[in-house]
Amino acid sequence: MIIVYSWKGTTLAYARILADLRQESLFELKESKKRNVAGCIFDSLLRREKQPVGMPDMSAIPDSEEITLCSPIWAGQIAAPIRYFFRRGGLQERKVNFLYTCLRMEQRNVYENMIRRLIVAAGGEPGFVMVMAGMVKDKIDEEIAHDHMKRILDEETVEAR
Ligand SMILES: Cc1cc2nc3c(=O)[nH]c(=O)nc-3n(C[C@H](O)[C@H](O)[C@H](O)COP(=O)(O)O)c2cc1C
Repeated sequence: MIIVYSWKGTTLAYARILADLRQESLFELKESKKRNVAGCIFDSLLRREKQPVGMPDMSAIPDSEEITLCSPIWAGQIAAPIRYFFRRGGLQERKVNFLYTCLRMEQRNVYENMIRRLIVAAGGEPGFVMVMAGMVKDKIDEEIAHDHMKRILDEETVEAR
């Protein structure tokens, strides 16, 4: 199962490709109120968790099922609605993969370490952590993204063997 929050649509576009590649269902978290840029930044700086709409019922999901969370990076943090999801539970003893989008690729190690720490703190077992290029105005090139993600997933499967 893939769970995504996306403010401007970039992360959602990647999550759709991932769902297609992995043949998994996709859950999109939304928010009841429209968010502005300041709201994104404040929530990140204050490490706020904002309850999203459309939370899946984790107790109904088989224990063995892997969860893949997808979020943009805001001010160095994962987005508040996905942060809320971490605290809300349901990740314990599950394999938790993560796809994130960002602009500052040079910060990848920092973001990845933070994400792995959060997964472990929530009782999950970190699986793959995948970064995809954030967009400002342009749309993603779906074909390139598809091929790139497929290659990463194939490598993961080889490593896991
Ligand atoms: C308020 C805000 C803060 C951001 N902060 C960062 C940041 O600290 N580092 C980074 O690499 N990208 C940052 N970005 C870029 C986003 O992570 C990137 O554009 C992402 O793909 C947006 O995803 P979305 O279209 O799914 O909302 C920020 C974007 C916004 C809107």
